[in-house]
Amino acid sequence: MVFSVGSLTARLMFVGEAPGAEEERQREPFVGPAGQKLTQIIEKAMGIPRSEVYISNICKFRPSTGPGQGTNNRQPTPDEMASCLAYVTTEIALIRPEIIVALGATAAQGLGIEGPVGRLRGRFHEFQGIPVMVTYHPSYLLREEQTGDGIRAKRAVWEDMLKVMEKLGLPISAKQRGYFQTK
Ligand code: URA
Repeated sequence: MVFSVGSLTARLMFVGEAPGAEEERQREPFVGPAGQKLTQIIEKAMGIPRSEVYISNICKFRPSTGPGQGTNNRQPTPDEMASCLAYVTTEIALIRPEIIVALGATAAQGLGIEGPVGRLRGRFHEFQGIPVMVTYHPSYLLREEQTGDGIRAKRAVWEDMLKVMEKLGLPISAKQRGYFQTK
């Protein structure tokens, strides 16, 4: 099991998919390559120390691909997510974040928000009365950087994070507004 990390008074909570190999090894969410990308978004772009937010996963264990799994990871199934939902709802009830960010369609689905990220992102949904922003998973950003349009994907996530920062009333500099612009 890999539980959450962060501040008990966090205003902002991130919900990912499930721990990967590195997270399982270190017993901490988002510490592998996708985690480093998430930390960059939180600390370098948004300007918030990682320790001030709350970082959770919709599934608390690394989904098995069988013996000899190595570093391979897979998405959790709806049943696997359902088995952890009581943990997530209790975390949310205890932390009472002002905003939840669901990272990717799987995390969103686990919170009852269905659809592709491209259709869900950019606006607030709701879970237990708390606004939820759905955005691309950091692994998607890593993949797009390698094989697709990394800047376009980063700008999309960044526009979603600007909306989150606005709703939290955080200061946003002109430099921050311009991050990852294509022109
Ligand atoms: N991806 C996730 O969704 N969660 C983690 O904790 C690590 C990678």
